This record gives sequence, structure tokens and C-alpha cells, in this order.
Amino acid sequence: MRFQKCRNLSDFRPLAKARLPAPLFHYIDGGADDEVTLHQNTAAFDQVGLIPSGLTAVCVPDTTVEVLGQKISWPVFLSPTGMSRLFHHDGERAAARAARDAQTIYTLSTLSTVSIEEIGALTQAPKCFQIYIHKDRGLTREFIARCRNAGFTSVCLTIDTAVAGNRERDLRTSMVMPPKLTLLSFLSFLTHWDWSLNFLAREKFQLANVVTSTSAGSAKNLISVIDYINSQIDPSINWDDAAKLIKAWDGPFAIKGILSVEDAKRARDIGATAVMISNHGGRQLDGACAPFEMLGQIVDAVGEDMEVILDGGIRRGTHVLKALAMGACACMIGRGYLYALAAGGQPGISRALSLLRKEIERDMILMGAEKLSDLNRSKLLIR
Ligand code: FNR
Repeated sequence: MRFQKCRNLSDFRPLAKARLPAPLFHYIDGGADDEVTLHQNTAAFDQVGLIPSGLTAVCVPDTTVEVLGQKISWPVFLSPTGMSRLFHHDGERAAARAARDAQTIYTLSTLSTVSIEEIGALTQAPKCFQIYIHKDRGLTREFIARCRNAGFTSVCLTIDTAVAGNRERDLRTSMVMPPKLTLLSFLSFLTHWDWSLNFLAREKFQLANVVTSTSAGSAKNLISVIDYINSQIDPSINWDDAAKLIKAWDGPFAIKGILSVEDAKRARDIGATAVMISNHGGRQLDGACAPFEMLGQIVDAVGEDMEVILDGGIRRGTHVLKALAMGACACMIGRGYLYALAAGGQPGISRALSLLRKEIERDMILMGAEKLSDLNRSKLLIR
């Protein structure tokens, strides 16, 4: 099947699997330990039913929403995902352009293969930069200044990655960056020769935001993702560090990786403007609860004071509607666009985003919701 025939986000997954050498597909697809949280992130949406209203004469629903200081035309934007060049040679450029065309926000990861400056120049659309605080604290200060100069509109700090999660698929497939032929992966790279040729013939792999500051970011140095996180990212960061970053940025700022009411309140108290309820797509602490399971409590505690964004497990428009009815102001997708990137580059992502957006519009009509604020808990059956 070609990506043009995909009918929903999940349809892109087998295409990504067919196009990518095994280590790279499993790097996207996998989670930590037994992948219980990975599966629960999506399954959690089934615990709640939607209660539609009829005869509401909704024909053209209004899907616009304001989040992270930006008005976007529908309530979904792109989560940060490191090293996108591994999945398609256009990597982050493809994702940023597709987000721009879909009139939504692109979030660039600290661990991207294209720099803050290049993404800044590439699109005038709203952009968020995701920060991992490195042991080299000078780097973090630089990120803030570079994002400001490059026209980024918001920043988020990921707090769930003090150490790398135990992603056993990466260990089994010898996933290192940049990818390397090992005895184990040889066949897989050989049988995916179009990916391999593209990877070898085009620009070199590098972690573009950190390459000048840490040797681990350069193509010459093979390192596993797990080793990168464990050697470069500072596990000793605390709420004071987050507060300093919020002050330094002095603009829309989200804390990503919040799962508890207590942490959401702390984020509010130190001045964050948003929380991203997330468990890193099930890639960190296996057994952690699903973002959707915690959403209602967190909205009740801080929803009046800050934006609550849901990240994790979204594969359908109805998942987005359930999250918004529970009180989220917007949702983010990670794998939902990465499979599409692998399957078809920028046009693949554009198709995935357009399918999801159409689902949301159709589902709003079926719900009798003219605008997103018509969705509230009276529209949910909590089983
Ligand atoms: C991620 N995620 C992530 N998060 C982050 O804060 N910084 C990062 O660099 C990355 N990198 C990354 C790579 C890959 C391959 C994946 C799949 C995920 C987590 C991401 O931002 C998001 O939280 C999850 O992907 C959300 O879950 P879904 O939408 O994939 O189910």
C-alpha cells in the first residue's frame, strides 16, 4: 500500500515498518520494559464513552484553539521527537513544513538533526522548542537565547528523562546513532537499500543543536540513545532549575512529562503557562499511568490557571474529542506523525494530519459540537 491510500494514523505504521531498517522502526515503535504503558496510553481512551447531542444543525464546526500563546486552526500539534532524520532524509524539515501547512505548532527536540536556526528560518509558523537540561548548563542558557533569536514562540522542558527508559527493543536491535552496520542489523539495512542509500548519500547525521558543544552529538561518535541520555542529560535538575528557565524565557512555557496533580500545581506555582500531561509515549517508566487517566484530576486542580495539554496515545479524532471534553485545551501526537514521516516524508505527514483533522471535524458534527468549548464532561460517560 502507498501512503496516499492510508485512511487513518495507524495505517501508516505497517508502511513505516516496511520502509525502515528494523533498528529504526523499533526505535519509533517501542516502549520501556513490557510496554504496558505504551499500550495503555491508547487503551485508556476506551474507558470513556462519548455522548452525542442530535438535531444541533452543526454543519461546519469551528476547530480553532489558542495554546502556548498562538491561535492554531485545530487542537492538535506535533510532539518533539529526536533524530527525525533517521526516519526520512527530510526529517525535522519535513515535519516543520507539514505542521506549517496544517496551521499548527511544530515542536523541535533538543536532540534534532536540524538546528534551531534552520527551523527558525524555514517557517514563520508557531514553533516550540523542547529542552533537555544538559550537564553542561551553558548549553541550556544558549538554547534560550538561540530560540529567541530564531523566532520560536514557546519552550517546553521535558522532566521525565532523568535516565533513559529501559527500551529493550533498542538493545536487541543494536540501535545506535548514527546507525551502523552490525552483524545483527546488516540484513535489515541491506534489504532496505533505498533507506540505506538515502542515508549514506545525503547530509551527515548529527545532533545539530549540540554538535559544537558535545562530541557525542557528532556523526563520528557512535553512541546509543540510552548512553547519550545517561551521559549528557543532567539527572539532578529540580524545580528551582525549571523556575530559572521559565524566568529566562519569559514567554509561553510548558513543562512536559507531568503525570501528578502535585507536579502540575508546582509547575503552576513556579510560573509555567502550560503542562503537557505525558509519559514520553510509554518510553520511560513502564507501569506509569496513561496521560488520559490523569487528565481529569489535573484539569480540576490547575485548569483554571494554566493550559493543560494531553500528549500520548492519540491515534483517532475521537481520542482528541475525549481529551478536550475532559478539559484539555489541546493534544499532541508523536508516533502518529513519525510513522507517516517514515512512510512518505512531508507529504506523508501532511496526509496523516489532514486525516486526523477530518476525523475531528466529522466527529464534532456527530457530537453536535459547533465549537471545541461545547465539549465538556457532560458529553462523557465515565465507565
Ligand atoms: C519521543 N519523545 C520525545 N520527547 C521529548 O521530550 N524529547 C524527545 O527528543 C523525544 N524523542 C522521541 C523520539 C521518538 C522516536 C518518540 C516516539 C517519542 C516523546 C514524544 O514527545 C511524545 O511524548 C510521545 O511520542 C507521545 O506519545 P505518542 O503520540 O507517540 O503515543
